[in-house]
Amino acid sequence: MTSSHDGAKLPFVVEWRDGFRTGIDTIDRQHLHLFALVRALDLHSVDHTVDALLNYVVTHFTDEQALMEQSGYPAFEQHLQLHEDFAAHVADFMGAGDAWTQERVHELRRFLNKWLISHIMTHDMRFGKWYAVHCGPDGLPAAPDSAGAGLVARLFGGRKQR
Ligand SMILES: [Fe+2]
Repeated sequence: MTSSHDGAKLPFVVEWRDGFRTGIDTIDRQHLHLFALVRALDLHSVDHTVDALLNYVVTHFTDEQALMEQSGYPAFEQHLQLHEDFAAHVADFMGAGDAWTQERVHELRRFLNKWLISHIMTHDMRFGKWYAVHCGPDGLPAAPDSAGAGLVARLFGGRKQR
């Protein structure tokens, strides 16, 4: 396959795709914004753009985690750990304190794109699917099949009645 870009010199630009959608509107809008912030990373404004990006990552993780916790997502703890691992990696990278160079900006961008795509496609998507089944579009518990079935479930702890 040929490309008009030289892979080794690509500035690691990733455009948002519909395939990244988890189906949870708030999360998707925040992911879209994250991709835009990663795209905006460049050497000339790196101090400002890195600050804006990391602040937004914190906002996004906080919101996503709150949604998971409030909805009773069973894999919440594991997901929290993934966010913490990410934060530790970024803190290490930033803590190295090396002067910004084009290569270092690219390295950060490459890591962020790779992490974001893999995290969204695997773990956020898993949450999106779980959320769609267990919560309604407004974040409320999914409506029972019928009022009667809901009543039975509430009275008998979900055991099917014959
Ligand atoms: Fe996440």
